[in-house]
Amino acid sequence: MTQIKTCSDSIARSGFGTLQIPDSMLQDYRKIVDGYSAISPATKASFSFGQDTDGFFPFGAEYSGSEDHPDLCERLCYWPVHVSKRIGFEFTRSDFFAAVDTFERQISELAQELMDGICGEFGVPPLAPFRLASYVQLCVYGVQTANIERRFAQDPHEDGHMLSFIKPTREGLVLVKGGSLESVRLLENEVAVLAGSLLTELSDYAIPAAYHAVLAPQRPVSRSSLIYFANPNPEQVLTSFFRKQPIDLNSAVNARHTGFGNQPIQLP
Ligand SMILES: [Fe+2]
Repeated sequence: MTQIKTCSDSIARSGFGTLQIPDSMLQDYRKIVDGYSAISPATKASFSFGQDTDGFFPFGAEYSGSEDHPDLCERLCYWPVHVSKRIGFEFTRSDFFAAVDTFERQISELAQELMDGICGEFGVPPLAPFRLASYVQLCVYGVQTANIERRFAQDPHEDGHMLSFIKPTREGLVLVKGGSLESVRLLENEVAVLAGSLLTELSDYAIPAAYHAVLAPQRPVSRSSLIYFANPNPEQVLTSFFRKQPIDLNSAVNARHTGFGNQPIQLP
């Protein structure tokens, strides 16, 4: 059984799976998580596009439960659909940006392949390409989070996308299962794949959304997490997996996105 098949099987059953990534992706991953600290505050401030949820966002700009309980991280979001608007910025010519760009290309292919596998599990045709509705997000939790009296650096939530691919640099990611928390442990070359509520709706509630959280560290350590969020192609008329009924997820995409404190998605 291929790893895509194993993972799509697992997602279809439980809403959670893991995937191995090739060495080239792992190298880009390391350049991204290691390279963030060298980016200047001035670059972060100028390369920030709130209306597109693109570029850099300061500490505490997003929340998972309530607005007065922000996620204890800074963020960088990268949307391939917006990249042509950014070419005038020096930052887009950096090695760091090139690594983000290459990582996104590779993970978007894996995501499409995995979604083909999930559709295969349900005997439905594959989804239209969804790369241009999807994006990469780097979350950087600084050392200061240990001093904040909170159980979670990111409160329990589900991501509200179809799939999230998550690769953290250290422990902290937990699956929330009823009242208990289950640590997500990954090998060096593995990413966690979590189903979101859009996939739950698309599958007529067969696939559960994976609720998760990030534990606040007990000691001052920095932690980063590189994530890929897969959203459906807004131009495809989707058909639900079991009832085979047309299903419009576009308003749900925006409701979930703005529910984290982001601006509504406007794709060109
Ligand atoms: Fe999340």
